[in-house]
Amino acid sequence: MKLIVFFVCVTLISSTVFFEVSGENLKKPRILITILVRNKAHTLPYFLSCLEQLIYPKERIHLWISSDNNLDNSIQILTLWLNNEGRKYHGVEVNFDLESSGFEDEKGIAHWSAQRIFHVINLREKALNAGRNIWADFIWMLDADVFLTNPHILNELISKNETIVAPLLKSNGLYSNFWAGMTDNLYYLRTEMYKPILFRETVGCFKVPMIHSAVLIDLRKHVSDNLTYDPKNLKQYNGPTDDIITFAVSANNSDLPLFICNDIYGYIMVPLEKEETITEDLQKLTNIKTEILSDNNNLPLSTHLKQFVQHPTQDKLQVDEVYMINLFRRPEKRYRMDKIFKELGIPVRTINAIDGSALTPADLKMMRMEIMPEYVDPYHKRPMTMGEVGCFLSHYIAWNKMVENNFTNIIVLEDDVRFEPFFIQKVNYILKELEDLQLEWDLIYLGRKRLTNNTEPCINGSTYLVQASYSYWTIGYILSASGAKKLIDAMPLKRLIPVDEYLPMLSDVHPRDDWKMHYPNRNLIMLSANPLLIYPIHYIGEEGYVSDTENSTLACEYKAMDESEREDL
Ligand SMILES: *[C@@H]1O[C@H](CO)[C@@H](O)[C@H](O)[C@H]1NC(C)=O
Ligand SMILES: *[C@@H]1O[C@H](CO)[C@@H](O)[C@H](O)[C@H]1NC(C)=O
Ligand SMILES: *[C@@H]1O[C@H](CO)[C@@H](O)[C@H](O)[C@H]1NC(C)=O
Ligand SMILES: *[C@@H]1O[C@H](CO)[C@@H](O)[C@H](O)[C@H]1NC(C)=O
Ligand SMILES: *[C@@H]1O[C@H](CO)[C@@H](O)[C@H](O)[C@H]1NC(C)=O
Ligand SMILES: *[C@@H]1O[C@H](CO)[C@@H](O)[C@H](O)[C@H]1NC(C)=O
Ligand SMILES: *[C@@H]1O[C@H](CO)[C@@H](O)[C@H](O)[C@H]1NC(C)=O
Repeated sequence: MKLIVFFVCVTLISSTVFFEVSGENLKKPRILITILVRNKAHTLPYFLSCLEQLIYPKERIHLWISSDNNLDNSIQILTLWLNNEGRKYHGVEVNFDLESSGFEDEKGIAHWSAQRIFHVINLREKALNAGRNIWADFIWMLDADVFLTNPHILNELISKNETIVAPLLKSNGLYSNFWAGMTDNLYYLRTEMYKPILFRETVGCFKVPMIHSAVLIDLRKHVSDNLTYDPKNLKQYNGPTDDIITFAVSANNSDLPLFICNDIYGYIMVPLEKEETITEDLQKLTNIKTEILSDNNNLPLSTHLKQFVQHPTQDKLQVDEVYMINLFRRPEKRYRMDKIFKELGIPVRTINAIDGSALTPADLKMMRMEIMPEYVDPYHKRPMTMGEVGCFLSHYIAWNKMVENNFTNIIVLEDDVRFEPFFIQKVNYILKELEDLQLEWDLIYLGRKRLTNNTEPCINGSTYLVQASYSYWTIGYILSASGAKKLIDAMPLKRLIPVDEYLPMLSDVHPRDDWKMHYPNRNLIMLSANPLLIYPIHYIGEEGYVSDTENSTLACEYKAMDESEREDL
């Protein structure tokens, strides 16, 4: 007897060891990816390109795609893509309806009518059961307005070993694919937990009451068997008729937590609101693409899908020129900005920034330039750096180009900025307001760092503009011909201070009285967009920040702020 027991033990141990070794050689889990598509012709080229670039064996993926009730050519795009790529997958199941064009009770494409919701519930349930029927290991429920720019995202999600999990999907605002709270009657509730997860202040996987739009479900787990999207399958359900809420409740009933992981992330479009149309959705697409490119993430576009992409028509924003200041030796910043400008449709002229690191005090002397003797940096208590001199000169070049060309208005941008959603539209509102109100102005900040808490004087009749108080940064502004003339006529090269001290000085909002004697004419009329339209990408001390003025590599730096002051961005 003893001998037999001994033997069993040995076998058990060795089989465990064997299992672990062979585990590495197992094929990847079988995934059913399900995609519901409706009126997504504008997002599909990017959605499908991201799918195509996933680093995961395609023969272990089965696709299940359903599309109906379209007003656009979503089905043609899907068909063309499947004709090119479909055979690489284990299999493809499609359910296309070319005839249907909407539901009777629907008012516009943003309206979630009762019939539409029932239809989606049925489709999702069908997809889930398709996964179960083909013995898929996982089902991945993807929405077609999701951009999975990280090619490792599927592998990483699987490696979380959770039964129900989704990657964080960022938008260009507060919208995302999870809820951090839920009311007793199962509606959305914003909680304290939401922003830290969304803004990735702490990184990892978090248990939340709702995830959607890119949910991976491990169908190998017994406990997944009672998951459902259909309220009819739940006992005692009094919540709203809704696919994702039903799913969340079914998960809770099965004691299954929902996890959102923000260490891996993709992007999602902000959904259309009531009455919005495909035109708004196209603008939202521009917004999310701008966000992706601002994060410096690659947005892939497969060759056979290029033909379906429309770039926006070029818009000079009703100014004579848009200048971007960029150091020639920082091409990566230029490429990033060029991609964003292309997306926004803004034609831009690049000004090669003066490289502070190449300037010496002897150069300044030769150029007959002088730094204002009283100047010390208010934070670091150090003299003006050569980087700050280079930054000043770069802006000075832009002002002079404006005068030489007799331009009426220009926009000047630095190369390390992030644009607010609907940037173009918002600049147009501002320009229209200036015209409608017949305002006199010289310079309008598009982005800045306010340094005082005082409420700024508003402008009679204006919705988008305020008078600018003492502020830092010169990341973006609109300049008028009169503004350029004042900035040059004050002869700043003879009494140099950093350019973001100079603007407040000339508009007479600078607190340092002892500097004012150098600039007797302080009549620059300086307004600011409110809210701001541009923010810097990095701050001093933040990951990814490289200073060109301190250490000598940005053309212009964003002055150091303490942590608390970043809050109001
Ligand atoms: C998931 O399970 C695998 C295999 O057991 C293990 O190697 C991996 O570390 C686990 N991942 C997590 C996040 O627990
Ligand atoms: C699914 O629900 C049925 C009916 O309530 C229950 O008997 C069964 O145990 C559940 N299965 C799992 C895996 O939770
Ligand atoms: C189910 O919901 C209850 C009530 O909201 C909550 O306390 C519990 O943690 C949830 N269970 C899971 C597994 O999410
Ligand atoms: C700007 O205006 C001046 C005076 O009217 C003129 O001499 C000059 O040629 C103009 N420059 C350009 C680039 O049009
Ligand atoms: C602005 O107000 C906040 C809170 O009221 C305060 O902490 C901060 O120091 C103020 N900043 C300035 C520049 O006055
Ligand atoms: C604002 O404009 C209106 C109409 O032009 C005028 O009646 C009013 O006095 C103005 N208010 C101020 C504070 O200038
Ligand atoms: C300056 O450059 C050095 C060496 O390249 C780097 O380690 C340091 O972080 C830089 N400092 C700043 C403020 O960028």
